[in-house]
Amino acid sequence: MDLRELYQDIILDHGQNPRNFGMIDHPSHFARGHNPLCGDKVTVFLKVEGDRIVDVSFEGKGCAISTASSSLMTEVLKGKTLDEVHILFTAFHDQVTGVNDHPVIPDSLEDDFDRLLPLAGVRTYPTRVKCATLSWHALEAALKSGGLVAEPVKTE
Ligand code: FES
Repeated sequence: MDLRELYQDIILDHGQNPRNFGMIDHPSHFARGHNPLCGDKVTVFLKVEGDRIVDVSFEGKGCAISTASSSLMTEVLKGKTLDEVHILFTAFHDQVTGVNDHPVIPDSLEDDFDRLLPLAGVRTYPTRVKCATLSWHALEAALKSGGLVAEPVKTE
C-alpha cells in the first residue's frame, strides 16, 4: 500500500467511524461552523480548563472529508494547550490552503501534525478546502468567543 492509499483509508475510516462524535458533558465553549458551498454544518464542543483543552468533540452533518477532518482534529487537539492548538491550526490551515506546504512546527508537535497529513491532498481541490477546514474554523470561533456561543460561523 502506498502513502496515498494509506491516507485515503484513514479518511474513509474517520469519515465512516468518526471519533469524539456527539456533545461532551458540560462544554465550556462551542461554536457552529457552516460551509456555504454545500450547506453542511458542524458544531464543535470544547472543555477548556486553564490554558488546556481537556476535552473536545463535534457533531453535525458533513461529507467524508469534513467528518474525517473533524474526527482527526478532535483526536489531535485533546489535551493540548491553547498555544499548541494555535500552532497546529495555523500549520494545518497553511498546508491545506497551499500557503505553506512545509510549515515549521516544534518537534513536540510533529507527530500530531503528521496525523493530519491525510487531509493535505485537498489543497489541489479548492472546493474541498472548506470541507477540511470547517471544524477548525468552528474551533477557532469557539475559542475566540471566550465561552459559549450559539451563532453559526461561516468558513473562509
Ligand atoms: Fe459539505 Fe464537504 S461537501 S462539508
